[in-house]
Amino acid sequence: MHILVCGGAGYIGSHMARWLALRDIRVTVLDDLSTGHRSFVQWGDLIEADIRDPVALDRVFAAQRFDAVMHFCARSLVGESVADPYSYYASNVGGTLNLLQAMRTHDVARLVFSSTAAVFGHPQADRIDEDHPQKPINPYGASKLMVERILADAASAYGLRSVALRYFNAAGAAPDGTIGEAHDPETHLVPNAIKAALGTGPALTLFGDDYPTPDGTCIRDYVHVDDLAQAHLLALDYLDANPGAHAFNLGNGQGFSVREVIAAVAQVAGRAVPHSVAPRRPGDPAVLVASSDRARARLGWRPEYTKLAPILETALRWHFSQDDKQ
Ligand code: UFG
Repeated sequence: MHILVCGGAGYIGSHMARWLALRDIRVTVLDDLSTGHRSFVQWGDLIEADIRDPVALDRVFAAQRFDAVMHFCARSLVGESVADPYSYYASNVGGTLNLLQAMRTHDVARLVFSSTAAVFGHPQADRIDEDHPQKPINPYGASKLMVERILADAASAYGLRSVALRYFNAAGAAPDGTIGEAHDPETHLVPNAIKAALGTGPALTLFGDDYPTPDGTCIRDYVHVDDLAQAHLLALDYLDANPGAHAFNLGNGQGFSVREVIAAVAQVAGRAVPHSVAPRRPGDPAVLVASSDRARARLGWRPEYTKLAPILETALRWHFSQDDKQ
């Protein structure tokens, strides 16, 4: 089997490429390296191409045969999407449409697509399942929801088989320290808290402690990046027996507040996390926790990392390995 991993130089895509290789599945990575890292492409060839370029995509699919595509390329910062929506729709919707058209032209009929909790907007339930209303509150979430709708239409019109996996808060790193989470600028809580603890980044800014939650800080559902990769492998198998367009929510079903994450990072790092409280960050819902019952029942997904500390330990190990390189 040969899988094209679009966005395979990025955080989640690179962990996916590692898992495909561990399963002896041939990987080719397509990435424009705008946010991904050449050094993360350690499993399979790298094709440098931009999904906004249909001619380049056609060349890629004409040159070799893929059995399926896993599509991780995206602009994925909520705030940036509000400030620059055109670039989000161009990459996340236009780019994906180019990819789907190339797949159709070249007869590749299976796709696993990276979607997000942001397709739901403000949560109307304690745990968000697949039946939760989809009312995104920012262009990032809207762009991913548009693709989910395109995938449903493509299933009816062209017989494309697809699974959209809606990640909640991806965290952690490959346990062997080879790859991890590295964005520039880094906006995510876990890497920012770790860098603050290690002194490799500034003190953490805690955005808002006046939310209607027990300690006043936002609650999120952290899921290990390797568990997300496992779900993709299961999704690929699922498509063998299940035509159509499917979607699953992926989280641990357990929420941790920002203060709990800070305390857990301090514990696993053995160092305090210097931080100060600032006003709320626009667009942050108070609580976002998944119900992944459907992924468990239909895909047979069993996340290995159900507690926060082991997730943070893998992230910390990777940050330490970066320190060693400096
Ligand atoms: N936070 C801080 N300080 C930081 C970074 C984050 O206090 O330096 C807080 C945020 O305000 C939020 C929580 O930590 O309350 C988690 O923030 P992240 O940026 O780590 O993650 P988000 O929950 O904002 O993002 C996730 C996914 C997005 C998705 C979004 C939906 O990463 O892809 O949920 O709301 F769009």
